[in-house]
Amino acid sequence: MNYGARHVAIIMDGNGRWAAARGEPRVVGHRAGLEALRRVVRAAPSLGLEYLSVYAFSTENWKRPPEEVDALMNLLVEYLRSQIDELDREHVKMLFIGDSTALPELCQEEMERAVRRTSQNTGLKLAIAMNYGGRDEIVRAVRRVLAAGLDPAALDEGSFASHLDTADLPDPDLVIRASGEMRLSNFMLWQTAYAEIYVTPQYWPDFDGAVLQQALEVFAQRERRFGGLG
Ligand code: FPP
Repeated sequence: MNYGARHVAIIMDGNGRWAAARGEPRVVGHRAGLEALRRVVRAAPSLGLEYLSVYAFSTENWKRPPEEVDALMNLLVEYLRSQIDELDREHVKMLFIGDSTALPELCQEEMERAVRRTSQNTGLKLAIAMNYGGRDEIVRAVRRVLAAGLDPAALDEGSFASHLDTADLPDPDLVIRASGEMRLSNFMLWQTAYAEIYVTPQYWPDFDGAVLQQALEVFAQRERRFGGLG
């Protein structure tokens, strides 16, 4: 099935509330969130997606208790170690966006290994946002532009975008946010200029291919005008 969305970006919110509703610690919610990610990655290609971006750890998430930060870093490593064979078999190409230099060494190593191993794959492009913030990304892109010594008059939207972390990704057609909040929370600020937004009340750990399909059905009904008259 194809709903006309090449790139879907997901804000995976509500892990903590999902856990609290079960009287469990927040980390249990994050672990269940990892399972949801597996389900959605598996479903994405059959729904016509070429790119899937997920917000796993924001530049603001460092403010959480150290145990929770550690747990999220460990979950990334666990995800990459346990899933890389299946991801590779499914032809998924792994990418990361965000400032990886501040992440623990072990995370960086596993990320680099996953990128290297899947670099020739031609299936779904999966971009995991780790230590990602839209404003931080724009500031880092400006630094790259300045370091490249670009003539200010030569800078345009296209050349600027080629310095963003998402240089190899088209802009998302659809942003999905789980668990009801109606905010972008610093996710892909530049790239979402014309994205459709879909907010679902489900907590992220309850998300699956069926919810993704619902979101895409709604997306397919929307009229996108990109600022014109359509
Ligand atoms: C938001 O829920 C979720 C996060 C901050 C982390 C997202 C992480 C995962 C889905 C699993 C880990 C995946 C990888 C690849 C590391 P929240 O904790 O803000 O929930 P709340 O708003 O209900 O408290």
